[in-house]
Amino acid sequence: MAVVDLRSDTVTRPSAAMRAAMAEAEVGDDVYGEDPTVNRLQETAAALLGKEAALLVPSGTMGNQASIRSLTRPGEVVVTAVDAHILMYESGAASALSGVQIQTVGDGSSGSFTGTDVRGAVRPSESHFAPVGLVSVENTHNRSGGRILPLECVKDIAEAAREHDLPLHLDGARLFHAVVATGIDAAAWAEPFDTVTFCLSKGLGAPVGSIVCGSAAMIRRVHRARKMLGGGMRQAGILAAAGLYALEHNIDRLTDDHANARRLAEGLEELGFSVAGAPESNMVMFEVRNSATFVRETLARNLFINSVYEGRFRAVTHLDVSEDDIDDALDRIRELVAEGVQ
Ligand SMILES: Cc1ncc(COP(=O)(O)O)c(C=O)c1O
Repeated sequence: MAVVDLRSDTVTRPSAAMRAAMAEAEVGDDVYGEDPTVNRLQETAAALLGKEAALLVPSGTMGNQASIRSLTRPGEVVVTAVDAHILMYESGAASALSGVQIQTVGDGSSGSFTGTDVRGAVRPSESHFAPVGLVSVENTHNRSGGRILPLECVKDIAEAAREHDLPLHLDGARLFHAVVATGIDAAAWAEPFDTVTFCLSKGLGAPVGSIVCGSAAMIRRVHRARKMLGGGMRQAGILAAAGLYALEHNIDRLTDDHANARRLAEGLEELGFSVAGAPESNMVMFEVRNSATFVRETLARNLFINSVYEGRFRAVTHLDVSEDDIDDALDRIRELVAEGVQ
């Protein structure tokens, strides 16, 4: 039985054409700024997001953390959504590396928050309180199942942040999902933010790499933070070539992943599973009562799906999963349901 891997959109393997682009990449030492392919990727990414400059970093985590370090001072508070990746899944980096604490606000089920939440988080300036130093938005929001925070909500948050002179960071690991789902271009999503991170290795099919975009002055700061974090790479043009290929070929097709996510969600509902809302991008969140058996039996059928927490599963569609694979996955789950596993 062929593997259907729905754990994450990070499991994609570079296609033959992407590998060819990597093999042919012109390279140089990027720590000297001399890798022409890295420079081209950074220029392309900056233009796409309507920012002055961009920097290639090895991972989304480094992009977020180098941004946080560049935008805050130790002792400050970063205000963000409930279950934000920077809080849940970055190994405590914000506190360890930047000395900041994270305060979550807003609606836990959708990962959204509002300008009113930001205003409510700002404390009077007296010595008891840690000052808020940064507002961070995650779009699409991973742990809520790829929910999209609408642009008018982003603008509302940005307005509140500006009222208090607070900088804004966008963890846009899956920003292009919001772009294709809404038809609003990346530059419009990026506009209110001082720094924007997006990942080439999530859904876009590249093996490694994320980008941080911002003003030229801000990217100089992020560059220094990247150095401190050990993220300066040498002949990284090989990776940048994959990133350029991903930006050229793999953005528009994200709509296929969204259609597959909806197909999977509908199929699961027909099989009697409770799906946590219609998918807005490439993730399907659903409930399973017999989770231990579900994990064992799906694995036995070469179907890989991650549990987010007890009873809650997350299936992610991506470049290496076709519509037929979704039907195959549903057939395998149908067998489990017939055996009473649900
Ligand atoms: C929203 C979000 N931000 C950041 C990251 C971190 O990316 P990386 O795994 O490349 O460090 C992820 C990873 O899944 C993510 O989902």
